[in-house]
Amino acid sequence: MRYTDPEKFITIQQHIIEQQTKHPTASGEFSWLLSGLTLAACLIQAIVRRAGLVDILGGADSENVHGELQQKLDVYANKVIERCLASRGNVAVLGSEEIPEPIVVPTPEGSGRYVVLFDPLDGSGNIDVNVAVGTIFSIYERVTHGPVTDGGRKDVLQPGSRQLAAGYVVYGSSTVLVYTTGHGVHLFTLDPASGSFMLANEHARIPENGKIYSVNEANADSFGAGINAYLDWAKSKAAGPYTSRYIGSMVADVHRTLVKGGVFMYPATAKSPKGKLRLMYEANPMAFIVEQAGGLATDGKNRILDKQPTELHERTPLFIGAKDDVTRVMELMARG
Ligand code: AHG
Ligand code: MN
Ligand code: MN
Repeated sequence: MRYTDPEKFITIQQHIIEQQTKHPTASGEFSWLLSGLTLAACLIQAIVRRAGLVDILGGADSENVHGELQQKLDVYANKVIERCLASRGNVAVLGSEEIPEPIVVPTPEGSGRYVVLFDPLDGSGNIDVNVAVGTIFSIYERVTHGPVTDGGRKDVLQPGSRQLAAGYVVYGSSTVLVYTTGHGVHLFTLDPASGSFMLANEHARIPENGKIYSVNEANADSFGAGINAYLDWAKSKAAGPYTSRYIGSMVADVHRTLVKGGVFMYPATAKSPKGKLRLMYEANPMAFIVEQAGGLATDGKNRILDKQPTELHERTPLFIGAKDDVTRVMELMARG
C-alpha cells in the first residue's frame, strides 16, 4: 500500500506542487489556495463524523437564496470555507450556494488573483440519515484588474471552460478528495490519523462500460419521450440490463459514476423547469472533472462547460458520465 510506504506516499500538497511545475505561469500561490480548501475539508469532515454527538443536525432557522431551509451543517461548512479561503490572501471573490451575492474579499492592493465558487455542503437532505454528503469547488482566475468594483460579477460569470481547477470532497465511508487542474483527475483519501490527504489514484478514467443509470425516477412524468426511451432501453435485456443507483447527494452519485461508469441525470422537471442543479458550483466543476476523466457533461443539448452564465445561482439540467451513455441519452432526446 503506497501510502504506508515511507518511500512512496504522496500527500495532496506534494501532488499540487508537482502539478505546479506543469503550469509554467503558476506560482506557489495556487498550491497555497488549494491547501485552504484541504484544510476546510478536514475541518468539515471532523464535524460530519460527529454529527450525532454535536448540535449540527437538523435545520438552521434560515433559508438560502433558493428559498431552501438551510441545514446547520450547510451554515457551518459555508463559514469554515469562507474563513479558510479569505485568509489565504490571494482570493479576490467567493461565491457560495448559501450566500445571495458574491463576497468580495479585502486583500492587500491587487493581490487577489483567484475566484472560488463552492457548494459547501452538497446533499443536505441526507445529513440527518447518515448518508454520504460532500463539498464541491470551482476555481477561476480573475478577468478584471485592480480593486474589484462590480461586486465581483464579471469575475464570477465566466464559462466553465475557463476554470483553472475544480474538485469535490465526499464525506462517505472514507473522506475522498478529487481534483483536476486540467492535467487529469486525481483521487486522495484522508488518513484520519495524520490529517493528510494521501494519493490513492492518479489520472483516473471513467469506465466506458459501466451499466448504471442514476436519476430520480419519481420525476419521470416530466422527463419527456427521449429520456424515458433511454430508461426503457437501459432496463431491457438488450442493454444488459443496467442497474439503478440514486443516492440523492449529487457529489456521491457523480463520484460513483466517475469510479464505476454509467450516467447521472438531473433533467428539467415540472418542479424545476430549468433543472435543479446549479451551473456554477455543481454542474461546472463536475463537468470539468468528468471530461478530464474521458466522459461528457451536457444540459441535454449543449456542453456544460460552454454555457455562458448570467447569474451566480442559475440552474441547469445535467446529463453527466461515460461518453456512450451521455451520447445515447442526447440522441434519444434529439429524436423527441
Ligand atoms: P444541495 O444539498 O447542495 O442543495 O444539493 C442537493 C441536490 C443534489 O445534491 C442532489 O443530486 C439533488 O439535490 C437531489 O434532488 P432530489 O431530492 O430532487 O432528487
Ligand atoms: Mn448541492
Ligand atoms: Mn449545498
